[in-house]
Amino acid sequence: MADQWQSSMDHAVAIARRAGEVVREALLDDRAVMTKSSSVDLVTQTDQKVEQLIIQSVKEKFPTHRFIGEESVAAGESCVLTDCPTWIIDPIDGTTNFVHAFPFVAVSIGFSVNKQVEFGVVYSCLEDKMFTARRGKGAFCNGQPLEVSEQKDIQQSIVATEFGSSRAPEAVDRIFCSLKNVLSVPVHGLRGAGTAAINMCLVASGCVEAYYEIGTHVWDVAAGSLIVSEAGGVLMDVEGGEVDLMSRRIIAANNRTIAQRLVREIAPFRPPRDDAP
Ligand code: IPD
Repeated sequence: MADQWQSSMDHAVAIARRAGEVVREALLDDRAVMTKSSSVDLVTQTDQKVEQLIIQSVKEKFPTHRFIGEESVAAGESCVLTDCPTWIIDPIDGTTNFVHAFPFVAVSIGFSVNKQVEFGVVYSCLEDKMFTARRGKGAFCNGQPLEVSEQKDIQQSIVATEFGSSRAPEAVDRIFCSLKNVLSVPVHGLRGAGTAAINMCLVASGCVEAYYEIGTHVWDVAAGSLIVSEAGGVLMDVEGGEVDLMSRRIIAANNRTIAQRLVREIAPFRPPRDDAP
């Protein structure tokens, strides 16, 4: 049977590549920086331009589809996932990297139907790596199949995480408590690419065993979550339950053993949900 969402996925790949060109071109110019929720939550005109480029082109081709886009939500649109086909877009995941020309920047497009991610596309623009996953059909990078690491021992693992953009003292305390606990397991190393989407693709590629973060948004992780699970990995909430992409908490790991081991080390807290009224 023909895949109902194949043409949407093909469009997502094409528009992510086009968006990546815009991002690369913008890196050659000065980048005017604005702030959102805090002085370290950055946005540029390129984020806004790329999101509009993606939304306009999808609207022309799929006029009934809905959108959750990072910059549209910042501009006041709602962030509620319905059962309708919905494009979940982060035009530049790694905006701080982009501002500083730190070379890991991704366009992230997840597509959800009935609240389930059907496909995910993460284009790592500067590495020119196109990560894709279709539910039930595996995960790929530039067409090559991806597989998570087989490591079950956290002491033989690399763990990725990020500091996020909250500087609220309680959040910073919890983040440092988790870092200290994970580092002291001890793990082989801690890493962070500066983009949730690329961190998740690193898990899917088998380079790092796990990524966790509290403070992500649904647009940071929707595409990456499917790429990880289709590469054979698992998703878990930081307290061990089922992951909820709107909860802003995530563990993406190569297997349950590593994910559950991380649960023991992470100091949890609950940022306001993405879909909070
Ligand atoms: C951010 C990046 C960062 C992560 C934040 C995200 P943005 O996304 O993924 O690595 O720590 O939680 O919000 O703002 O660059 O799209």
